Amino acid sequence: MYSIHDADLARMFSQSVPRLEDHADKWRRYAGQDVIPMWVADMDLASPQPVIEALQARVARGHFGYTKAWPSLQQAVCAWLERQHGWAADPSWLVWLPGVVQGFNAAQKLWGSATSQTVIQTPNYPPLRNVTEKYGHGQTLIGSVLENDVWRTDWNALESALSAPETRLLHLCNPMNPEGTVWRQDDITRLAALCDQHDVMVCSDEIHADLILETSVKHCPAGAQPLLTQRSVTLMAASKTFNIAGLACAFAIIPNAYQRAAFKDTLSHETGEVNALALVATEAALTRCDDWHAALLQHLRQQRDQLATVLKGTSVHYRPASATHLAWLDCRDWAVNPYEHMLAHGLGLSDGDAFGCPGFLRLNFACGTDLFELAMERLTRAVTSAPLK
Ligand SMILES: Cc1ncc(COP(=O)(O)O)c(C=O)c1O
Repeated sequence: MYSIHDADLARMFSQSVPRLEDHADKWRRYAGQDVIPMWVADMDLASPQPVIEALQARVARGHFGYTKAWPSLQQAVCAWLERQHGWAADPSWLVWLPGVVQGFNAAQKLWGSATSQTVIQTPNYPPLRNVTEKYGHGQTLIGSVLENDVWRTDWNALESALSAPETRLLHLCNPMNPEGTVWRQDDITRLAALCDQHDVMVCSDEIHADLILETSVKHCPAGAQPLLTQRSVTLMAASKTFNIAGLACAFAIIPNAYQRAAFKDTLSHETGEVNALALVATEAALTRCDDWHAALLQHLRQQRDQLATVLKGTSVHYRPASATHLAWLDCRDWAVNPYEHMLAHGLGLSDGDAFGCPGFLRLNFACGTDLFELAMERLTRAVTSAPLK
């Protein structure tokens, strides 16, 4: 396993990149205010140098017409899936699309209906939690429960939802956003058997799959499970891990040829072409950045652990998760609105309300140590001054 010295790590990720002048969504929300934005799930860290260089070389070629994915890019994705997740996927299974959101929307349009039920975890990334509403389809929401102090999907609710005859589709979010829990192999195996038994299609949003912080934890892609191979769409992207979300690119992995053709057809009515530069960036990210990736995980792990230390024994209940750069903070003991209180202390977090959980906050800790340390000082002040119920 690649291991980087602490001194190198400190240098690599010590500086956050200034993003306001480049109109970053994350920074524009609080422009003109003394607020550190820690909401939307992108990073205030520069992308790896090989990605930047690949983009520069492509820009220098000076033409930007419609572009299709090419064989070495397809191979790069499959080699990455094999290396990172032990999944031997075939290049022909890939469908390129401008974003994961378009992917789960297309799956919903294709496999959901007004007369059937779609199962969705809560809390959840808002566009995923609300995906059925867009099409007027039926939904069954299933919650999360604490199991040995880890947030997990409520199995009782999940089993009863999957066995209902009206249920046709499950949207899985793995690793879970906002909780950061990674589905264990035994849970995925159990889920696969249930979906097979009850003839339920699975659309698995795995956009955070390459942000597994715990070295002992393995991500298990849905499509790699034998009982799900013929009934799944697995959605992934290099976007979150390599900070290229603004380039807009993702890929779906659909082993079943009939389902793949149907998905592509639905997608063609919903979205346009994939960004040519994003394809270049994705290939560079998945082929030339393994060391950077390992170092990033180490940096994020350190910040996650530091955050846990800051919050230990306070009125904010934080359970450090195995994956993502997102921390799910339980502030339900506070007598004030948590979002407003943090904002008053110069921190712009995501309000748990939007994920379906009032009283919670989601904090994105993917920034350089410079900004992170400042944020921790503000967080300490906010937490110690919060009035309790
Ligand atoms: C779980 C999840 N799915 C999808 C997305 C967005 O994906 P995209 O930008 O590729 O549409 C996000 C972004 O935060 C996310 O957290």
